[in-house]
This record gives sequence, C-alpha cells and structure tokens, in this order.
Amino acid sequence: MDILLERKSVRNYTDEDVKLEDLEYILRAAMSAPTARNTKCYSFLVIKDKETHKKIGAVHKAAQMILQAPLAILVVGDQNKAYEKYLPQDCAAATQNILLAATAKGYGSVWCGIYSNEERAEAIEKLFNLPENIKAFSLVVIGRPNDNRPPKNAWEPEKIKYEVWK
Ligand SMILES: Cc1cc2nc3c(=O)[nH]c(=O)nc-3n(C[C@H](O)[C@H](O)[C@H](O)COP(=O)(O)O)c2cc1C
Repeated sequence: MDILLERKSVRNYTDEDVKLEDLEYILRAAMSAPTARNTKCYSFLVIKDKETHKKIGAVHKAAQMILQAPLAILVVGDQNKAYEKYLPQDCAAATQNILLAATAKGYGSVWCGIYSNEERAEAIEKLFNLPENIKAFSLVVIGRPNDNRPPKNAWEPEKIKYEVWK
C-alpha cells in the first residue's frame, strides 16, 4: 500500500484498541518530523480515557468522532523552545507524520484543528491545564477504520506550474 496516496480522514472506528507497539511507532514517526533549527518544540499527549474524550468533545465540536475512538493524540508546541514563529509549522509536520504512520499500521485517523481557532485552543489548554508557553496545536483521533471508502482523488495537475506563474 502506498501510504502517501492512501491516507484519508477516517471518522468511524471499530472497538479495537491501538496496539502499544503501533502507538510507539506512530510517536517515533511524529518525533522524526523536521523542525525549524531542530528545536523539536513539540510534545504529544496520548489520551485514552473516555471521560477525557467526552470533555474534549464538549469543547471541540468538529471532533465528535473522538467519542467512539480508542485513542487521540494532542499535539502541543512549546513557545519557549520554538524558533521564531515556526511552532505551527513544526507541529503540523509532526501531525502529518502521525497521520501517515497511523495509515502505515492500518489505522484510520483524522487531524482535528485547534491552533488557529483561539476559542478552541483556549478551551483545550484550560482542560489540560497547560502552562502558558505550551500551545495546543492539533488533536489526532486514531482507531481501526470502520469505513472502507477510498481516499478522495487528490491529483489536480492544474495546481502545478513550471518555472513561472501563469
Ligand atoms: C488544519 C486542519 C484542520 C482540520 N480540522 C478538522 C476537524 O476539526 N474536524 C474534522 O473532522 N476534520 C478536520 N480536518 C480534516 C479535513 O477535513 C480533511 O483533511 C479534508 O476534508 C480532506 O479529506 P482527507 O483528509 O480525507 O483527504 C482538518 C484538516 C486540517 C489539515
């Protein structure tokens, strides 16, 4: 399977748990993402607790799939460690690696945005009692897919330009 082309957002999951060794692989992949000046300003909060899932669902309306998922990873960035304003790029690269690693291990996943939505970010940061310098970036919800729809057709050759913009 070509994971780069097969990745898609999956929002329905079976009851199966994410295996510990697969979780470690996914987190290793996250930590293999590039960061500006190699600051590695990201950290990952693994959340399995169902009560916490409910609390997240209450403040992140676009993350309701968490209510039936075995696991979610909150990607956060440390503003004190990040180089200049690169925290979101660093955390985005880590988030994408999580999605791809999950796909490689046969899991479905979805990136739920937090960082650019101030109200959402504040609510999540408050929920986890994050220190001022730790910024919530994204929530990746992961589980065995209960959904076999193919990925969307992403190939749009008109988006490619050569040498000059025209
Ligand atoms: C920055 C970002 C934020 C997103 N936030 C959400 C979200 O809050 N809830 C959700 O269900 N999907 C979210 N998505 C997933 C997109 O809806 C999805 O990637 C897009 O529709 C393309 O579908 P695909 O991932 O299956 O290719 C987000 C994706 C990105 C990149």
